Amino acid sequence: MNKIPDRIEKEIQKLVKDLNYHCYRYYVLDAPVISDEEYDKSYRHLKELEERHHYVLPDSPTQRVGAPALDKFEKVQHTEPMLSLDNAFSHDEVREFDQRVKKFLKSASEIEYTVEPKYDGLAIELTYRNGVLYKASTRGDGYEGEDVTQNIKTIRAVPLKIEEAAAPDEIDIRGEVYMDLREFDVINREREKLGEPLFANPRNAAAGSIRQLDPSITARRKLHLACYGMGHARGIKFESQWEFINWLEKARFPVPSIIKSVKGIEKAINVIREIEEKRKDFPFEADGAVIKVNSFELQKGLGIKTREPRWALAYKFPAHQGITKINEIIASVGRTGAITPVALLEPVRLGGVTVSRSTLHNWDEIERKDIRIGDTVVVERAGDVIPHVVAVIKEKRTGDEKHFKPPVKCPVCGSVVEKEEGGVAWRCIGLNCAAQVQERIRHYASRAAMDIEGLGEKNVELLYSQGLVTHFLDIYKLKKEDLLNLPRFAEKSAQNLMDAIEKSKHTTLTRFLYSLGILHIGEYASKLLARKFNSLDELYHITPEKITGIKQMGEKTAASIARFFNDPENLQTLKALKALGIEITNPDFKKELEEKRRLEGLTFVITGTLPHPRNEIEALIENMGGHASGSVSKKTDYLVTGENAGSKLQKAKSLGIKIISYEELLALLEGKENA
Ligand code: IVH
Repeated sequence: MNKIPDRIEKEIQKLVKDLNYHCYRYYVLDAPVISDEEYDKSYRHLKELEERHHYVLPDSPTQRVGAPALDKFEKVQHTEPMLSLDNAFSHDEVREFDQRVKKFLKSASEIEYTVEPKYDGLAIELTYRNGVLYKASTRGDGYEGEDVTQNIKTIRAVPLKIEEAAAPDEIDIRGEVYMDLREFDVINREREKLGEPLFANPRNAAAGSIRQLDPSITARRKLHLACYGMGHARGIKFESQWEFINWLEKARFPVPSIIKSVKGIEKAINVIREIEEKRKDFPFEADGAVIKVNSFELQKGLGIKTREPRWALAYKFPAHQGITKINEIIASVGRTGAITPVALLEPVRLGGVTVSRSTLHNWDEIERKDIRIGDTVVVERAGDVIPHVVAVIKEKRTGDEKHFKPPVKCPVCGSVVEKEEGGVAWRCIGLNCAAQVQERIRHYASRAAMDIEGLGEKNVELLYSQGLVTHFLDIYKLKKEDLLNLPRFAEKSAQNLMDAIEKSKHTTLTRFLYSLGILHIGEYASKLLARKFNSLDELYHITPEKITGIKQMGEKTAASIARFFNDPENLQTLKALKALGIEITNPDFKKELEEKRRLEGLTFVITGTLPHPRNEIEALIENMGGHASGSVSKKTDYLVTGENAGSKLQKAKSLGIKIISYEELLALLEGKENA
């Protein structure tokens, strides 16, 4: 490759520098100094030069988009663990925190704290090497996260390079990626139109956007960042949180919208009050305020308790509340026929989100709270967007309020409704109830089930009303031509749906079981079943007894599974699905088997003082298929002994039972020794 002329190299360098500066003005400071057109013009010019001369700087703004989609995310180890925070719900609990800090530090003088909003998003670590963004990872379990570098780069507020003068050799910067409330509203409205499931809250929306394998999708969601912490660093040192945040600001990182440094806990509480007052005007969701000991030296002295630092605390704000009127109550029919009363509200803004519906859960709840149509009520939204009615303001009643009785007939299909025995839910028993059938199809295609993208509520409704899909079996009989005849589909969208359907044919037993929508069988129960049974065939004609044998499976669940797998019509459906090309693998089975079998058939007795509470050790044994017993007998295989073992040890010795230490038990559990 020819070396590019100096003049061009300089021009590219200048363009990158200028564009990055304007990006910062726009996305971090929210104070642009050039017009969008001017920016776009320079950007296009840069892109042209880069392409013509094959010269792209690592921090070029063109590197924010255009990375290819991934198959999966690579794992990333955090150099220093990403911790979580202890919570407080009252100012007194905040004062107690201050007492603990002082006591631990044996300090009589007031402590200096910083206070900032707690952003409700997801924690990210940005690793910069020699000033250039090298990797971005999610928090994961705190020790190991996922590499989401390509996606994070699409967030314009994330600097691709630290200003040269300020750049250390290496630094891990932590912050929260979040979606602001307006963008959240827009995205959910779009999803509603497309018939896709809505995000429950901005946090889920942000997390869902970051966990996209295709960065172009992340790029479309307008995500933000607020940096508030530091992990490992080399070549730079800070004295305090305050100093660090100031450095971040100089280095052009976005920092919390409010951050104050104060001396003494009462002043810190005042800042908490201030943040809480301003919270309703924040463009983002803040679920609390975070208070941190300012000095890094003191932080180090305080250290960590399990997974939470002793030097920080999250004060959680109470839920957003508002007052509004119930205009109407409707009965909505779900997949299993359960009929739920839903209140249609006079739209009300609750902490930046407009709500107009609220589930009333069931009729017992309506009765208990004495909720009537026309009532003025207090509604509350706690983090999630789905609000609930806290109480009725009875003083506001005019006498025109109306009771809402449980329906005698299904509001959708007119079938008989029944109250579940001992339960609170009314259920439509109509097998072919349109609401239920559509819900079943939608559930079948949903993300955690067969994951057929494009088969959301709206499209299911359309395909159902056209008679094209009246059972989930029909999904596999769809032809592209069928779709092309419909108003919502064009060549590309039809092909996409056909591809998604084809892809869904290769699935796992866990997903498949979940997709069937068997009463009481959620994602977790499906997984438990898949761990126990290697294939679908093993479930045919199953008896409830075989299922109650699985830990955590109750009688209700067992009865429901047995009913499903003994119903001739259901078995017919399963056969038909197989004939249509559904292939089910079961990766969950083997893993469980290896672990489970390790201690299968072995009985353990524990005696003496061990490093952990007895019930915890017993749980460990039982988790791996062993049995923990309280007394020594001929059936005992192992006696696990700690300090001060007494009569049990004598008895075990006399019976010739193997006696092992706690360490030897651990070795057994890990499969290091053969039983
Ligand atoms: S400090 C050990 N500051 O809250 C310090 N966290 O509940 C931990 N968060 O995982 C982080 N805003 O995702 C800190 N201003 C803030 C925060 C914040 C939001 C999140 C963060 C963390 C979680 C802990």
